[in-house]
Amino acid sequence: MKLKTLAAVVVAAGMISSAAKAGPEVEVLHWWTAGGEAAAIKVLVDDFKSHGGKWTDMPVAGGGGDAARTALKARVLSGNAPTAFQMKGPSIQEWHEEGALTVGIDAVAKSENWDASLPAAIANHMKCEGKYCAAPVNVHRIDWIWANPKVLAKAGVAMPTTWDEFNAAADKLKSMGITPLAHGGQAWQDATVFEAVALGVGGNAFYKKAFVDLDPATLSGATMQKVFDQMRKMRGYVDANFSGRDWNLATTMVMNGEAAFQIMGDWAKGEFTNAGKVAGKDYLCAPTPGNGYLYNVDSFAMFNVKGADKIDGQNLLAKLIMGKNFQKVFNLAKGSIPARVDVPLNEFDYCARRSAYDMDVTSGNGGLLPSYAHGMAMRNAQAGAITDVVTKHFNSNMSSADAAKALAQGVKNSM
Ligand code: BGC
Repeated sequence: MKLKTLAAVVVAAGMISSAAKAGPEVEVLHWWTAGGEAAAIKVLVDDFKSHGGKWTDMPVAGGGGDAARTALKARVLSGNAPTAFQMKGPSIQEWHEEGALTVGIDAVAKSENWDASLPAAIANHMKCEGKYCAAPVNVHRIDWIWANPKVLAKAGVAMPTTWDEFNAAADKLKSMGITPLAHGGQAWQDATVFEAVALGVGGNAFYKKAFVDLDPATLSGATMQKVFDQMRKMRGYVDANFSGRDWNLATTMVMNGEAAFQIMGDWAKGEFTNAGKVAGKDYLCAPTPGNGYLYNVDSFAMFNVKGADKIDGQNLLAKLIMGKNFQKVFNLAKGSIPARVDVPLNEFDYCARRSAYDMDVTSGNGGLLPSYAHGMAMRNAQAGAITDVVTKHFNSNMSSADAAKALAQGVKNSM
């Protein structure tokens, strides 16, 4: 055999053996680094590995995902996109418009009949021009209030059902030297509290006009000023060290009885669960005062990557994510409820069941609304403009009238 031919045979053999060796592979960029979050993603990692996959973990710490999104941008710009990224609503479309996503998993979605097991609204978020480019893991509710029952009993206050009741309870707690509201002063946490207050104080129609339609008159109007009035009160209910605190440390304050309440999405429940705490006994949950439901769907969007092993990895990941058992086990740890509608909730606690019930009711009466603070309602530029004002107001003496005016202006400038 001539040397050249031999070399070709050796190369070809090498290719065959490496092709035979390669299996499904993913590199997943996400921000699930707090205790409950890490426990939840471990369910996915273990599932993936047990199906012969190779998982490369790329966690970027930072609640709400701002730091992870910055890391993602840098990776994509340098031509080194991860296989999958934890992503939300409209940003899936934004990345699709950049040409960064693949609809390769659509074949899996078709053969597994995802359309039949997902609410249409969630399925639509996951599609790029009609084909699946992302797979949803859950539905998180944002408008929750978490409480320590022992602290409430000590102060003789109940779980509030109106904002007036909340203020009365908080005033009482404060007068007893107890921190009413555990909060971390990070922009996304301010935004989380703000949207729950807006939903309750303004009502569902107001929320939709302001944060879905971005109606200038609603953004700057009298009701928005009332929302900021309540935010000013909230500012008075946090402790002196709130600035910069991570959300999970705020949850720990409620857990340990250092504070009475926290307003946070139900990933906070993941923290309680991870610490072995039981809903209804060690901690309480209730929707923040109002009649709506703010939803936030975590999903994994698939990026354009080269190599059969990575494409196999995306397909396997998508298939596992939508598995019925996975959706149960993952969400028990994460604090959310399954995105699939056909997963029995009998092993879930009363908070999760309340979430599923309220989601069902509000989807019929216009109260099921996308969370602006968690990237479900609008594009990043507009959401950022709103959050800038919310944070500025929370950390200054800005009047409610000025804040409402700045909100409308900020949104206008970001368009
Ligand atoms: C995500 C959650 C996450 C939370 C805190 C939210 O935006 O949807 O999955 O646990 O941020 O990091």
